[in-house]
Amino acid sequence: MTNVHLPTAANPGPFGHQQRKNFLFPENYTQFNHGSFGTFPKVVQDDMRAWHDRAEQNPDLWMRRDLYVALNDIRAQLAEFVNCDKEELALVTNTTVGVNTVLRSLPFVPGDRILVLSTGYVSVNQTVRYICDTHQDVKVIEVPVTFPISDKDLLAKVEDTLKAHQELKDGSRIKLGIVDWISSVPSVVHPVKELVELLHSYGALVYVDGAHSIGQVPVDLSHLRPDFYIANCHKWLYSVRGSALLYVAKRHQHLIHPTSITGDYTSGFEKEFGWAGTQDYSSLMSILSALKFRKQFGEDAIISYTHSLALEGGKAMAKILGTHCLTPDDHQVGNMVNIALPIKDLNHLKANTKDFMEILMDKYNVYTPAFRHGDHFYTRVSAQIYLELEDFIRLANIWKEVIDDLNASS
Ligand SMILES: Cc1ncc(COP(=O)(O)O)c(C=O)c1O
Repeated sequence: MTNVHLPTAANPGPFGHQQRKNFLFPENYTQFNHGSFGTFPKVVQDDMRAWHDRAEQNPDLWMRRDLYVALNDIRAQLAEFVNCDKEELALVTNTTVGVNTVLRSLPFVPGDRILVLSTGYVSVNQTVRYICDTHQDVKVIEVPVTFPISDKDLLAKVEDTLKAHQELKDGSRIKLGIVDWISSVPSVVHPVKELVELLHSYGALVYVDGAHSIGQVPVDLSHLRPDFYIANCHKWLYSVRGSALLYVAKRHQHLIHPTSITGDYTSGFEKEFGWAGTQDYSSLMSILSALKFRKQFGEDAIISYTHSLALEGGKAMAKILGTHCLTPDDHQVGNMVNIALPIKDLNHLKANTKDFMEILMDKYNVYTPAFRHGDHFYTRVSAQIYLELEDFIRLANIWKEVIDDLNASS
């Protein structure tokens, strides 16, 4: 980012509460959890509905011809956005599908090992477990990670694991490493370029789980050079739920097939991923208007505002709660910030994710996920263009009341 006048939490420019009118929230609701399911501007929803209408006006014309023109256009625009070739991109409905697509396609053989981090997303790590359960002598190697940890120490931990495996000299090989770009809970921006290089230097393929990346951090795949990459457009890019992009480097495309095989099996990557069976494709179409919505502000402006709001909002919340943010390094924060909750007794029966969810939703009409990590309970708060610092302060006071009540009942 080069422009010193980019919007910040203190100088929001076109962002903040004035953006609420562009989204669908009712007057009395503030969304603090964009990270889980995303949400989209009204214009994106209108556009998606227009695509939906168009399909219904002439289903054959749509399914047999126009759909492919539109998919091609979306892939071309996304390829420009993430700096890769259009031919390396496929559109799928979500990250879970994208991860399953690659893991269930890759030919794992006895002795193959898959490296994951313990902080990887649960469905991703469970998919790896499934692969191990269904293949003879394919095993997972899990790097235990507890945040906070510096980038340097995280890389050292992964390298120690790679070295320890190498020293086994048992004939097995780490075929694939899966790393988050930005993990879910806790949310931490990883040194993803260095992780890709490190795993490559030990001969492993690398799958980057970028579920939270596109729209939250600049993505340049020609620079990153992963083997596989998946990103949800329906989180931070503002498209409608059910829209994700899967990148498969050309050299691996002959190995990768959709999880549901269609008549286009063996017709090549582009064709195989063009038709996913009869379904509503309008969520994928919404990527076009999401990109258009973002263009009016510019990527740098959006990212600059949301990132600085996450940093400042997190610090303001930690001050009110008398605690700290999980990651001391600002560059490990994207748009989601984890703030420690001042719970006196971590073993209190009501100190759990579900009870907190119910109190927040039912009593306060807000929601942020709360979770135990290491020696603390944290909540993860998502900054977005429709939020301002004062929202974070209101949220901190709600959380303070919730935890004060909990501590009083200890
Ligand atoms: C890091 C990470 N990976 C994968 C996923 C799964 O995404 P989806 O539910 O859209 O498939 C999530 C969802 O939040 C995530 O945070």
